[in-house]
Amino acid sequence: MVSYKKLGLVNTKKMFAKAVKGGYAIPAFNFNTMEQMQAIIQAAVETKSPVIMQVSKGARKYANPTILRYMAEGAVQYAKELGCKKPQIVLHLDHGDSYETCKSCIDSGFSSVMIDGSSLPFKDNIKLTKKVVNYAHKHDVTVEAELGVLAGVEDEVQAEESHYTKPEEVIEFATKTGCDSLAISIGTSHGAYKFKPEQCTRDKKTGKLIPPPLAFDVLKAVEKKLPGFPIVLHGSSSVPQEHVDTINKFGGKLPDAVGIPEEQLRKAAKSAVCKINIDSDSRLAMTAAIRKHFAEHPEHFDPRQYLTPARDAMKELYIHKIVKVLGSNNKL
Ligand code: G3H
Ligand code: 13P
Ligand code: ZN
Repeated sequence: MVSYKKLGLVNTKKMFAKAVKGGYAIPAFNFNTMEQMQAIIQAAVETKSPVIMQVSKGARKYANPTILRYMAEGAVQYAKELGCKKPQIVLHLDHGDSYETCKSCIDSGFSSVMIDGSSLPFKDNIKLTKKVVNYAHKHDVTVEAELGVLAGVEDEVQAEESHYTKPEEVIEFATKTGCDSLAISIGTSHGAYKFKPEQCTRDKKTGKLIPPPLAFDVLKAVEKKLPGFPIVLHGSSSVPQEHVDTINKFGGKLPDAVGIPEEQLRKAAKSAVCKINIDSDSRLAMTAAIRKHFAEHPEHFDPRQYLTPARDAMKELYIHKIVKVLGSNNKL
C-alpha cells in the first residue's frame, strides 16, 4: 500500500471547496506520455494553478499503470524543481470501470478515483459507487461518480433529453453513495466530434459549425438540489479551430470537428462546476505541431526535434485553459 500523501499528492476535497466558493474550475488534464506530463506541470507551475492529472483505462494500457504512477510522483518533484514550493497535484483515475480497478489505483498512490457507473441502472450505480467510496474514504481518497450518460457521437444530443442527468435523482444518489463530486451530463461528450453537423448551425461567412448550447437549465436544477456540491464536466474540449486547420493543412483529415465553445465553459466554471476534463484539445495541439514540423522539416528524425514543439504547443494550450477559461490561476 502506497499512500498518495507520501508522494506529495493531494486529494480533491479542499481544492474543490475552494473552487466552488471562488467561482472557478480546476483543470483535469489527461496524460499518456512524458511530454504531456511535463507540459501540464510547467503550465500549472507558471500559472500557480492547482491541477488534476488524470489517467484513463486506455492510458494505463498504453503506458503501463506502474510507469504512469511513478510519473505522477515525479511530477510533484518536477513542480518543486520548477520553483513551486507547495504544488497541489491530484493523481486521478478517469472513468474507473470497476471496484477492483479503483482499489488497485488507491493502493498504488492515487489520491482520487472516478467510478463510472453511469451506464448501470440507478440502483446498481449507487451500489457500486458506495462500495468504492467506502474503501476510498478509509484512505482519505476522494471519489468522483457519474449520473446521466454523456451523449456519444452517434447520439442525438439535442433530442435525447433522457441522457441528461435527472436533477430529481441527484440528492438520493449523493446521499446514498457519499461521493465527493458528481459528473453530470448536460450535452458535452468525448472526442473531437461532439455534435453532428445537422445539430449545429453554420456561420454564413466562414462556413464553420456553431454547436447548440449546453443544457444550463439542467446544471442549475442540479445546483439547486445540491447547493455547493462539486460538479464535474467531462467532454469539455473546445476543439480549437487553429489546430484543426493546421492538422488539415498538413495532411490530416478532421472535417467538421467541433467542440464546446469556450464562453460556455467559462460560464460553467463560474458555477458549481469545479472540475473540467480536457483531453482531446491536448491531442489536437500535439498532432498539429508534429504534422507541421514534419512538413517543414522532412529531414528530421530525432523525436526530440518534433516532440519539443509538440510539448510547447500543449503547454501553451494548458496555460490558455487555466488563465482564459477556467480561472484557476494564482490559486496556490
Ligand atoms: O474520457 C476519455 C478520455 O479522453 C480518455 O480517453 O480512453 O482514449 O484514453 P482514452
Ligand atoms: P474531451 O474528449 O472533450 O477532451 O473530454 C475528456 C474527458 O472527459 C476525459 O474524461
Ligand atoms: Zn470523461
